[in-house]
Amino acid sequence: MALHIVNHPLGENILVSLRNRDTTVAEYHALCRRIGVVLFVKACENLDLKLTTTETPLCKCEGKILANPIALVPILRAGLALLAPALDLIPEASVGYFGLRRSEKEGHPEPYYQNLPPIADANVFILDPMIATGSTASFAIRALQKFQPKSIGFISILAAPEGIRHLMDKFPHIDIYTIALDRGLDEKNFILPGLGDFGDRFHGTT
Ligand code: URA
Repeated sequence: MALHIVNHPLGENILVSLRNRDTTVAEYHALCRRIGVVLFVKACENLDLKLTTTETPLCKCEGKILANPIALVPILRAGLALLAPALDLIPEASVGYFGLRRSEKEGHPEPYYQNLPPIADANVFILDPMIATGSTASFAIRALQKFQPKSIGFISILAAPEGIRHLMDKFPHIDIYTIALDRGLDEKNFILPGLGDFGDRFHGTT
């Protein structure tokens, strides 16, 4: 697995406002859309292309288009925050959903919803803004690997070292894109300094 910390001045600039406790829900939506674009441009850098021809108003010309289908899989519900920017850039992508909740007893992720498009031969991007322990990410990656997609990339805004270590051990062939690697987890598995509960802040449920 390769960890890609997307060190872009625009990403850093937006992240400060996402972290700020006083940022409103409306501002959050706009910030997620902008930071999502920064992440996706980087995450798509190595996608394969194929030759095509088109006709301008003046003449024929050659160009390149994406060689493989793209599938986007947000993990409900926080992952929805990264769907709009991904579709801004790749509107032809198919979209599937994973609903995962933490089991009360064991703390493991439990699926409550899964609706995936055909993904064999697709470049799949899993969307989840926070990689904390890595257990949700791990569950989703394993479930998607069964369909043998061409590649799986994981898109997050913030990650904790604990979660990244967990994923690196388990999935040596996955690329993870994140804006920042934070200090670590607190006793409730929140990322520090983090930005709080992402889902609550994005959906206005605090
Ligand atoms: N999920 C969140 O929303 N915040 C964290 O800090 C960790 C996981």
